[in-house]
Amino acid sequence: MTDQPTPDARLRSSGSLRRRLALQLVGSAAVLASLLFFAVLGFTRDVSQRSHDSILLASATSLMDSVTIEEGQVTLDIPYAALSMLGNISDDRVFYRVTLDDSTLTGYGDLPEAPAGARLEEPGYWTGSYRGAGLRSVTLRRRMSLDSGAAGIAITVAQTREGQQAELAALTRSALALGGGFFAIAALLALWTAQSSIRPLQVLTGVVSRRGPKDLRPVQRAVPSEMLPLVHSLNRFIERLRVSLTRSEEFIAEAAHRVRTPLATVRTQAEITLRRVEKPENRNSLREMIRAIDESSRAAGQLLDHAMVTFRTDSLERKPVDLQALAEELVGRLRPVAELKDIALVLEAGSVPPVPGDAILIQNALRNILDNAIKYAPPDSEVAISVTMDQSAVTIAVTDEAGGFPEAEKNALTERFVRGSNAAGTIGSGLGLTIAREVAEAHGGRLVLSTSSTGAGACVSLSFPLS
Ligand SMILES: Nc1ncnc2c1ncn2[C@@H]1O[C@H](COP(=O)(O)OP(=O)(O)OP(=O)(O)O)[C@@H](O)[C@H]1O
Ligand SMILES: [Mg+2]
Repeated sequence: MTDQPTPDARLRSSGSLRRRLALQLVGSAAVLASLLFFAVLGFTRDVSQRSHDSILLASATSLMDSVTIEEGQVTLDIPYAALSMLGNISDDRVFYRVTLDDSTLTGYGDLPEAPAGARLEEPGYWTGSYRGAGLRSVTLRRRMSLDSGAAGIAITVAQTREGQQAELAALTRSALALGGGFFAIAALLALWTAQSSIRPLQVLTGVVSRRGPKDLRPVQRAVPSEMLPLVHSLNRFIERLRVSLTRSEEFIAEAAHRVRTPLATVRTQAEITLRRVEKPENRNSLREMIRAIDESSRAAGQLLDHAMVTFRTDSLERKPVDLQALAEELVGRLRPVAELKDIALVLEAGSVPPVPGDAILIQNALRNILDNAIKYAPPDSEVAISVTMDQSAVTIAVTDEAGGFPEAEKNALTERFVRGSNAAGTIGSGLGLTIAREVAEAHGGRLVLSTSSTGAGACVSLSFPLS
């Protein structure tokens, strides 16, 4: 029998480990993805700016190379290629300006010059707006000796930035796609990691919660090293529980055993005395005493049997048991008891294959069921015992004419110490059906209480699986 783990209302959940792990990993992936995005964006923007600047510089340098001094005067013959190389890379507008000591020689007089670099020969770059458009410009400066003395010549070449900005937008989109793709893959890996890290815990939970309530074997499944202390403590706990259960069962068996022998002596003495006593009130007291002794020794016997069943089911023996022969033998042994009440035990046993199990336990279970049928049935009635099989199990059914089970109590009757309302006046301890049920369940079978097909009594069936 497997008990479904029921959630304990006193236990509070402090959140999901898997969700926490997944959130942390996805959070780290998001941070890394944004870092990657900004790093890639910064790097590509830098490379793009440099390549634009180098073309601007090449253009300005080729203008500077075309400056000549003829007869002490500056002359400039603008090569077409110097400016057309800029037009090649985009449709942006190109401006230039050549100044000699702050007076414009040629080009756009209002085109701002870029601030000078650290040294005069170094080109200066400037980004700003000119005539309503964004602009990037380079200014090259040289000192020259003219007739009128030394003079400074500055050549500025500029280009609007629409093409460059479109290129930057495309780079941003690519960096975004790269960062997004990285995040998506990292998030999937994070979810997978969270799931697989939690997996051993789920496996262990499954292994422990699938156990039957009486399965007190240590947990032996391999677990990750971090979980070893937990499993170790769990196993120690199970072992302590097993030892303490065994001790208490042993104690009950020992106590029942010790009580039975003196009870038998007391009963014999009471019966002998009953024969000698003549006063009716004394005889009644003695009869009540004998009944109480019978109750006690039945209870002691059943407790002893129950303890034995608990021990044997703990490590169940599985040898082939011939149920037909077992039923025949038991019916033969109980026939004299049944005959005292004129009850006929009728056995219909066909040939059935053996079932794997513990013959002593099965015999004990069947004896309790037959004992009930004889005890609760009226005198001069019939108890039928049948042994049948289907594809998967062999079933022993006992049908009597004892009036059946009180319907409202039926489900509780297989619990420990529970007796039905029809049991008033009969001696019993309420353990017989408990023993029968535990034996059936230990074998993977079932105990079923129903009403006989004639409606006159009960039908109790014990089934045992064939494998
Ligand atoms: N064949 C039956 N017909 C009618 N009622 C039954 C039958 N078998 C059991 N019962 C009812 O089920 C109850 C539980 O049965 P169970 O065998 O567990 O205990 P018991 O017979 O009272 O005591 P004991 O442990 O001594 O057998 C009985 O008290 C009785 O009310
Ligand atoms: Mg009984």
